[in-house]
Amino acid sequence: MTTAPMPAYAGPSRVFSGMQPTGGLHLGNYLGALVKFVRLQHEHECIYCVVDLHAITIEHDPKALQQQCREVAAAYIAAGVDPKKAIIFVQSAVPAHAELAWIFNCVARMGWLERMTQFKDKAGKNAERMSVGLFDYPVLQAADILAYKATHVPVGEDQKQHLELSRDIAARFNSDYNAPNFFPLPEPLIQGPGARIMSLRDGSKKMSKSDPSDQSRINLTDDADAIANKFKRATTDPLPLPETAEGLKGRPEVENLVGIYAALADLSVDQVLGEWGGKGFGAFKPALADIAAQKLAPIAGEMRRLLVDRTALDEILRDGAARADAISAPMMSQVRDIVGLWRR
Ligand code: TYM
Repeated sequence: MTTAPMPAYAGPSRVFSGMQPTGGLHLGNYLGALVKFVRLQHEHECIYCVVDLHAITIEHDPKALQQQCREVAAAYIAAGVDPKKAIIFVQSAVPAHAELAWIFNCVARMGWLERMTQFKDKAGKNAERMSVGLFDYPVLQAADILAYKATHVPVGEDQKQHLELSRDIAARFNSDYNAPNFFPLPEPLIQGPGARIMSLRDGSKKMSKSDPSDQSRINLTDDADAIANKFKRATTDPLPLPETAEGLKGRPEVENLVGIYAALADLSVDQVLGEWGGKGFGAFKPALADIAAQKLAPIAGEMRRLLVDRTALDEILRDGAARADAISAPMMSQVRDIVGLWRR
């Protein structure tokens, strides 16, 4: 028996992404994700979330969390996301996320989650003592994306496995409930030289908020002196910069600095090496620090300005949550029907 090919997902293309409000954002968040948020808003319907439900999966300060959400929202806007165009909101203000996550908990399989490397990295030897929420974190992430039937998700490379899980959950829901193409299989948008920014002290570790050394990262709010200092002290080797990308092999710290330069200056790695190949780090590092400061200083300034007027910022987030709810609430009614849950 031959079966007709399944029609592809026919819904609109839509972009969704999010960041955790756990401490300040850094250059990895900026180059891996935020730069893409800004670019995509001109071509697509975009929804950008501050994921506070994810932030409570580990120890957090309840008194600081709301303000940390405002800081991330301010960073989105300061970097160039236009809240009139894109939707900016806080995850816990929209009920669909937690509700869909529960339904997806009953679709995802333990074995799928047990394979998630980010949980293993975060939990280390203490998995038994971690919250169930931390283990379940990628299911909530799938719910974030699919509550809007988002088709494209701009993220850094560290999120690739979570995006694959979102696709698995969407496909499994569609087939378990005999609802072909109800959910799209969301595509990660990862490409570009900023997709994996590494620690300035150790080229084998990604730049991260949780690294105990502040010297390992450039924070979005660092001033020009701090930026210059951190790049000056960044780990390199005694050799000059290579002439070609081939010469970066086996030199992860150098590759990282060249990648950061390329991403900030909107150049290819080859173009950067064309200019800097054969030259020393004594000249390259201050040039890199200058470009970083030029990009980040206006963002930090605008963030400070936005954070002064808390009422205006909260109004933007309220409006964003209402627009997000207007998309996700009708979708959740359909999901409730498909799953056989009680009608509200
Ligand atoms: P979070 O807050 O850890 O990171 C936010 C974004 O920054 C990217 N990123 C990096 N990119 C390049 N180099 C780095 N060193 C680096 N560090 C972080 C991350 O890939 C991410 O794009 N799980 C998500 C939050 C989330 C989400 C979602 C994302 C929750 N629900 C739905 C997309 C869609 C996270 O870890 O964010």
